[in-house]
Amino acid sequence: MTEDNKNDFKDDCCKNLVYVSEDIVNTGIGVVIDVQNVYKYFGQLKVLNGISCAIKKGEKVAVIGPSGSGKSTLLRCMNLLEEPTYGEVWLDASIMTPVDPYLHKSILVKSNTYKRLMIEEIKSMLGKGEKDKLKYDDAIRLVDGDTLENMSDKVLKQIKSGDRLKKREGIEFVKAVKAYKDRYGVNINKARQRVGMVFQHFNLFNNLTILQNMILSPVQLKLKSKEDATYKALKLLERIGLLDKKDEYPSKLSGGQKQRVAIARALVMDPEVMLFDEPTSALDPEMVGEVLSLIKDLADEGMTMVIVTHEMGFAKEVANRVLFLDGGNIVEENTPEELFNSPKNERLKDFLSKVL
Ligand SMILES: Nc1ncnc2c1ncn2[C@@H]1O[C@H](COP(=O)(O)OP(=O)(O)OP(=O)(O)O)[C@@H](O)[C@H]1O
Ligand SMILES: [Mg+2]
Repeated sequence: MTEDNKNDFKDDCCKNLVYVSEDIVNTGIGVVIDVQNVYKYFGQLKVLNGISCAIKKGEKVAVIGPSGSGKSTLLRCMNLLEEPTYGEVWLDASIMTPVDPYLHKSILVKSNTYKRLMIEEIKSMLGKGEKDKLKYDDAIRLVDGDTLENMSDKVLKQIKSGDRLKKREGIEFVKAVKAYKDRYGVNINKARQRVGMVFQHFNLFNNLTILQNMILSPVQLKLKSKEDATYKALKLLERIGLLDKKDEYPSKLSGGQKQRVAIARALVMDPEVMLFDEPTSALDPEMVGEVLSLIKDLADEGMTMVIVTHEMGFAKEVANRVLFLDGGNIVEENTPEELFNSPKNERLKDFLSKVL
């Protein structure tokens, strides 16, 4: 693909891009993960279509939806395993993604694109002779407040819906982005460690023993001394009834046991929130229960969690809130009682009729 093609393509796939939120005042009170208008493209494929959702402390949120609807991608964006194409992800009132200028009016108005378009708007109101040498600041002075406000809204909308920002947006713009990042930014690697993730296929290292698997990250990342990590890992293994397996290799464990180890491994890092991506769907049916019961115990203890699951019964039992994803959008969200008993959206009704 040539550079030009790429740009054409980008324009094409972004032409329906409409950002909704304006300046975010992210107080972070009670919100652990805040997903703000996240878009994700894989090549031409738009997988997340401007998703916003906030996960509050102590909440248990189930994510359901058809295969390919973007559930895993959303989860992976929540801990930056995938970087959103547009939009922001916040963890505890710190921004983990690059700043998305489209989400912040105060940044957009510093851009050259905004200034250029504003001058064009203003010039269109003026007589021919006055047009030529007008500078941004002078142009602004010529227009009264209300008119300016309306023009500004119009221009901001054009910029957002047309994905109009380009590379050279000027020093003021760059400064504004940087100031935002300085104020709210956080070391992504550090932040990510506070988000535990459990995958469908366990992702244990087969060449390491269970205990080695559990202490690897916290020790390598210098979050814990080897002694502390080992102490914590052994406690967790005891809790899940697998202390006697500490020196075994993963291949010696059943699927259910491996998944419980994977969950315990995430807990060694003292995460603030746990993300589960279909933690039971690779398991034989008789092992599903032991894993769900461990997750339920964690939920009961107050752990904040987001669970992508096909286990509707479990979602009903454990979640405070259920999000239904379809085509990269949250199409419906509600308490489990409401969502399962009186679904409103047609596609949700159709989905539930197939899975319940
Ligand atoms: N790294 C990638 N590169 C290209 N396409 C991807 C990538 N990851 C996901 N996709 C595509 O994005 C879409 C959504 O995938 P995702 O895994 O988020 O769906 P899902 O809702 O989790 O589905 P499932 O229920 O089958 O797990 C799919 O069409 C998938 O093929
Ligand atoms: Mg998935």
